[in-house]
Amino acid sequence: MAAGLAEGKVALVTGAGSGIGRATAELFAAEGAAGVVVVDLNETGGKETVANIEAAGGRAVFLRADVTSEPEVAAMVKHAVDTYGRLDCAHNNAGTSGVGGAFIGFSLEEWNRVIAVNLTSVFLCMKHELAQMTTQEPLGGAHGARGVIVNTSSGAGVIGFPTLPHYVASKHGVLGLTKTAALEYAASGIRVNAILPGSTDTPMMRGYIGDNPAIEAAMKATVPTGEMGRPEQLAEAVVWLCSDRASWVNGESMLVDGGTVSR
Ligand SMILES: NC(=O)c1ccc[n+]([C@@H]2O[C@H](COP(=O)([O-])OP(=O)(O)OC[C@H]3O[C@@H](n4cnc5c(N)ncnc54)[C@H](O)[C@@H]3O)[C@@H](O)[C@H]2O)c1
Repeated sequence: MAAGLAEGKVALVTGAGSGIGRATAELFAAEGAAGVVVVDLNETGGKETVANIEAAGGRAVFLRADVTSEPEVAAMVKHAVDTYGRLDCAHNNAGTSGVGGAFIGFSLEEWNRVIAVNLTSVFLCMKHELAQMTTQEPLGGAHGARGVIVNTSSGAGVIGFPTLPHYVASKHGVLGLTKTAALEYAASGIRVNAILPGSTDTPMMRGYIGDNPAIEAAMKATVPTGEMGRPEQLAEAVVWLCSDRASWVNGESMLVDGGTVSR
């Protein structure tokens, strides 16, 4: 029988108390991870994810951390190493959709908030994750990496959306950070990639839709199949990118969107 994709690896997922992050944390555990660090601001959601993993026979710990705070991000990486001895896979996924508005008159406060949560957080997480990964030996034999990072961007990382300047700029920025770190640390045996989800049925998406069926129909209509993605479909891409089976994939911006951006 083939070993799980994450066999023996230590994984950390931010925003793992909900949606795509939760599905990814659960899949890392199901694929044999030695331990999963579940990071979120939302304590209830994060603890639920850990309970789900443990109920399925996996190992996980919850850490409440705000990924916009450098001391908390540093403590998050330290917690992974203190708990499980190393950090093999990091999914920098926490994010917010933000409140949209016309460019003219757009609030600087809202711009700064979304850039901090979606972009500065990825910079901070990578800074501290790379510092740890460069100090450890590779796992997994000939194709083993010293560490692998996957950042969550968005279809909005490659195309524009009117009224969402902050979100679009933050998700384009995540791709720039991904490519820069991928080049800088390739020779150290570390890979860095990004996933670009299309419309996915998560609590964030449900918050955006509210009780307005017209918005739900519009979100579904963005996808060629007419249906939104499921968080589990994004998790598959992340766990594969982190695995040794993706050993030649680096600096990649992988659309996982049912073909949305191909139209
Ligand atoms: N759902 C979609 O359609 C979609 C599409 C494209 C990209 N994305 C991206 O996917 C990622 C996950 O989104 P989701 O839909 O699963 O959302 P979600 O709201 O279900 O989950 C996001 C989690 O991030 C956490 N979080 C937010 N700010 C944080 C902070 N400062 N520190 C720590 N945790 C924080 C939240 O508490 C929440 O649990 C986001 O980066 C989002 O931009 C989502």
